[in-house]
Amino acid sequence: MSFSIKAEITAHVKKAAGLYRLDLYAPEISSEVQPGQFVHLRVRDGGYDPLLRRPFSIYDTNKSRGEISIIYRVVGRGTSILALRPPHDKLDLMGPLGRPFTFWEEDEKVILVAGGVGMAPLYLLVKALLKKGVHVKVLLGARTEGELVGTEDLQELKLKPCVATEDGSAGFKGLVTELLKEKLGENSFHRLYTCGPRPMLKEVARVAADFQLKGEVSLEEIMACGVGACLGCAFPIKTGEKGAQETVYKKVCAQGPAFSLEEVIYD
Ligand SMILES: Cc1cc2nc3c(=O)[nH]c(=O)nc-3n(C[C@H](O)[C@H](O)[C@H](O)COP(=O)(O)OP(=O)(O)OC[C@H]3O[C@@H](n4cnc5c(N)ncnc54)[C@H](O)[C@@H]3O)c2cc1C
Ligand code: FES
Repeated sequence: MSFSIKAEITAHVKKAAGLYRLDLYAPEISSEVQPGQFVHLRVRDGGYDPLLRRPFSIYDTNKSRGEISIIYRVVGRGTSILALRPPHDKLDLMGPLGRPFTFWEEDEKVILVAGGVGMAPLYLLVKALLKKGVHVKVLLGARTEGELVGTEDLQELKLKPCVATEDGSAGFKGLVTELLKEKLGENSFHRLYTCGPRPMLKEVARVAADFQLKGEVSLEEIMACGVGACLGCAFPIKTGEKGAQETVYKKVCAQGPAFSLEEVIYD
């Protein structure tokens, strides 16, 4: 079930250059959300500009306080406006929306790969997997240390994320996908979940296929309605058996954002 509400900003904190955490009082959403779902919110305070809502993954919840949190990077006009909204302002939002990640009861060990703010849909998933007693390994990648997301929050869960930065400012120097190859060579996992920039996702899917590891990916696509009514977020997906595959278009907002790693066409 999803809701359309006005949610009060309870905290709005700059975590690093261009990176913010926004906490909202949204008890209906906080109690319903499943890992991988998102909210679609109006960044403006009145008026019509920008007209379209912007989608953000629900990063965390605090059910006793009725709160949800999102983590976002400022990339354009909408997120620049959002960054200026002060505590106690009310934001118009819809959620929780979209297809959440799938859980498999038989999974005992899973690996998660996040690129930068791609950690946003994965943190609630980590918490849910740990609650089920699943062993979780998290790989975080970014260009530089300041762009890593979630390190401290994961440490609070007593996890030690494996970090890769392209400039070597923290952890392994190189791409997180190189670190992934190394980790999959050392240990076996039952499932992989990932979110991040498209080229990273393509490589993660290729590496996972090499190791015959199945999994799910959370896709980000420009959205309009956010609820499956406009086709604005249609994305090419493979269907059918190997050798007789067809391409169909699926709506990321309603049929995703979680898709199986193998069905997505990354190019
Ligand atoms: C399901 C979903 C969950 C998301 N969760 C998060 C999150 O938790 N944190 C976060 O920082 N970002 C998230 N995003 C991306 C976020 O929605 C965009 O960064 C935001 O809408 C950009 O708005 P803008 O007006 O600032 O940028 P615009 O001025 O609209 O665009 C600036 C740049 O961002 C690109 N862009 C715009 N909209 C999207 C979009 N929906 N997805 C990907 N790229 C986009 C444009 O192509 C352009 O290059 C998510 C996207 C989706 C679809
Ligand atoms: S954004 Fe309208 S169908 Fe997905």
